[in-house]
Amino acid sequence: MNSNAPEVLISEDDIQARVLELAEQISADYADAGDLVLVGVLKGSFIFLADLSRRLSIPRTIEFIAVSSYGNGSVASGAVRLVMDVRGNIDGKHVLIVEDIVDTGHTLKYLTGMMKSHRPASIKTAALVRKAESAEVDVTVDYLGFDIGNEWVVGYGLDYAEQNRTLPYIGIIKPSDS
Ligand code: PRP
Repeated sequence: MNSNAPEVLISEDDIQARVLELAEQISADYADAGDLVLVGVLKGSFIFLADLSRRLSIPRTIEFIAVSSYGNGSVASGAVRLVMDVRGNIDGKHVLIVEDIVDTGHTLKYLTGMMKSHRPASIKTAALVRKAESAEVDVTVDYLGFDIGNEWVVGYGLDYAEQNRTLPYIGIIKPSDS
């Protein structure tokens, strides 16, 4: 392993075991529900979405959306802007929004509100990790992988300046690493 590799916070094995548990729970909850659409939030969700969706035992389709935060990037203003909407028609379908991380909660709060305009049958949320201490708004995560502290985390879709997104584990970046 690279000596500069981020310190492991959540191992690949622990992630994969938890993703399987979440997939089994989702498969059970939606077993008789009808059309389920997984909506991945770009870019960070792409690996979690890929693994989660392949472990479901129920029919599902995939959509993506992209958002961007207003502000200068270092100080989040809390305002979120839609950059790319879903392509397919999700009217009357069950939507599961899939995020890699919930930090302040602004993105997920905005997305659950925005998604209602598509008139889905239901909207639920899944996130691999949540920084509970960073919450600025109340937002429900129906399917949560792990609660973590206030570290800067990378891997399994999460980046720091676009680096380390494809690490198979979740690692911690220290200021001295960047
Ligand atoms: C991350 C993450 C969420 C959002 C969560 O995206 O994927 O979408 O931040 O933060 P919040 O709870 O404070 O709103 P990011 O802006 O890093 O973009 P990326 O997914 O393209 O890396």
